[in-house]
Amino acid sequence: MDADRAETVRQEGESPREPSGSQASLAQRNVITEARPLPLVPFAHPSEAEFAKLLDFYGVRWLYEPRSFPLRWEGGRVVEMLTPDFYLPDLGLYVELTTLKQSLVTEKNRKLRHLRELYPDVNIKLLYKRDYHRLLAKYGYGPLAQENVRGINRVLITGGQLQRRVASLGKQISTDYLDKQPVLIGVLKGVFCFMSDLIRHITVPLSVEFMSISYYSEGGPGVRITKDLDTDITGQHVLMVEDIVDTGMTLHYLVNYLYTRRPASLKVCTLLDKRVRRLAEVALDYVGFEIPDEFVVGYGLDYLERYRNLPFIGVLKPEANEEPQQPPRRRQKKRSK
Ligand code: IMP
Repeated sequence: MDADRAETVRQEGESPREPSGSQASLAQRNVITEARPLPLVPFAHPSEAEFAKLLDFYGVRWLYEPRSFPLRWEGGRVVEMLTPDFYLPDLGLYVELTTLKQSLVTEKNRKLRHLRELYPDVNIKLLYKRDYHRLLAKYGYGPLAQENVRGINRVLITGGQLQRRVASLGKQISTDYLDKQPVLIGVLKGVFCFMSDLIRHITVPLSVEFMSISYYSEGGPGVRITKDLDTDITGQHVLMVEDIVDTGMTLHYLVNYLYTRRPASLKVCTLLDKRVRRLAEVALDYVGFEIPDEFVVGYGLDYLERYRNLPFIGVLKPEANEEPQQPPRRRQKKRSK
């Protein structure tokens, strides 16, 4: 992605490290990871078993506690080490879960900082209780899945800002695809406002396709494509259009899938990038806005199917609970985006 082109709505915050797994390596492997049943792993904590299930939903391969990293030595003896809970080989990422109280997380953070200093090539992410609850809420589980709609707190991106940015993305895409006829693939439903505005700012001939996916919690885990492409994209220049990239897991799945169709090229355009929440690093070629770690609605994006018709991007009202910044995703067990 050309980072300069993304408007950053948020300035502060952690910038995730570049992982060893990139979109290029995904393309070379050209595989879809299949969902599989959980192996019999003696997890130390129920949250780890839940997290493994979520990874299986996305078809992301994982290893449980595959390696320990020595952190401190005394007289040649290791006196402190960290064994990350998971390694995700497809993403080149170690994940350490913490369901502890926020106050106790400080110690884990210290260890992670130390690990990064000693092993700078290791890509590791600490997943907090709130992150974990958000992932669960996506499937209708956990405490965050029980919250109620509570209205808009503030406008994050105005209608005017949206229109200006979409126009400039359209201009850039028109330049980059000057001699080509791209196929734009939108991922329903959240993308419909963005996609319809974007194509009106693209001046090269193009065609449009839509895909739809659901996350099932019954009948076996896995992201399911509920609406596939209507045409063959082999040898075509494909531009995937997304409303928002959050953990990046959905995009990771779809990009893998589309590569099996052997397009001539595959790029990704997203209106919103919640970079700070990224787990799966998939390269983004066009980004409208980089936004903070908050749950946003409007301009096609919904909360429990509401708010799609807002002409701006807004942040939902926080509630007095452990998750003041971001409400849950949908409650349904089976849902489409
Ligand atoms: P990911 O797989 O975690 O990147 O999830 C991407 C999908 O989650 C998006 O396409 C949206 O459907 C949904 N999503 C993530 N964050 C938000 C948000 O802030 N508002 C509305 N939907 C969101």
